[in-house]
Amino acid sequence: MAALNDAQKASRDQFQKQSARYGKSHILANVEDVAALLDGVSFPAGARALDVATGGGHTALYLAGRGLSVTASDITPAMLENTAKLAAERGLSIETVLHEAERFPYQDAAFDVVTCRVAAHHFSDPRQFVAEAVRVLKPGGYLMVIDGSVPDGEPEAEEWLHQVEKLRDPSHGRFIAPAVWARWVRESGLELVECATTPFKQPDLEWYFQTAATSEENRARVMALVESAPESVRRAFRLAVEDGKVVWWWPRLGLLARKP
Ligand SMILES: C[S@@+](CC[C@H](N)C(=O)[O-])C[C@H]1O[C@@H](n2cnc3c(N)ncnc32)[C@H](O)[C@@H]1O
Repeated sequence: MAALNDAQKASRDQFQKQSARYGKSHILANVEDVAALLDGVSFPAGARALDVATGGGHTALYLAGRGLSVTASDITPAMLENTAKLAAERGLSIETVLHEAERFPYQDAAFDVVTCRVAAHHFSDPRQFVAEAVRVLKPGGYLMVIDGSVPDGEPEAEEWLHQVEKLRDPSHGRFIAPAVWARWVRESGLELVECATTPFKQPDLEWYFQTAATSEENRARVMALVESAPESVRRAFRLAVEDGKVVWWWPRLGLLARKP
């Protein structure tokens, strides 16, 4: 792997520290969102999958469970170790490779599907990730991206969520709106199959902070942003207090595109 830039180092350091939280009991172990996008796609016998920023490996495990030959990659060594352990526990075979999402060590047209779930908002150059995905896909192959997003055309809400997320986890980059994803994917030469957001409840602020080991100082700053949130933010994210807990709804992007 080449020398990491500051954003990549921040992600690696954050996830190296927090890797133990992303195992089989993590909320991301529920792969219904992946299944909703990929269950309807049929892959040829011997198909190869690349899961980028695999984290706890949940998407990679879904793909391996479907019989694909899976390469799981990440910038954080501890995450790849956990993925390999989980795969072995389930009797599945997954190759793990340490590399960044902005540059892949693979030949052109090597994979039938490239997936990336709940990670692109950390990337230093998500558009370059799309370009790399397109390069390594075979004609007829699919790109699947799932990530936190923001509503199109809501700059105040976008900026608010950016500030909140950056305080919670300094390795956060930026959430990208669906229309921007759709444009990047089309401009990179893919056909868009699906690009939609689903509201996903953020039910417990304490869990949200613990996952990222947010400092007390930054927790207080997030709470101040919650209390002073303007109407556009309250509406866009359905920000509310329920049973004494702050809740909001993330727009989660689900994107599927095909290489002609
Ligand atoms: C929330 S986890 C991913 C969850 C996982 N994809 C799943 O389906 O359960 C985010 C992962 O992104 C990785 N990551 C962040 N920035 C990266 C980058 N620039 N290149 C590669 N991996 C990156 C982190 O190391 C971390 O493992």
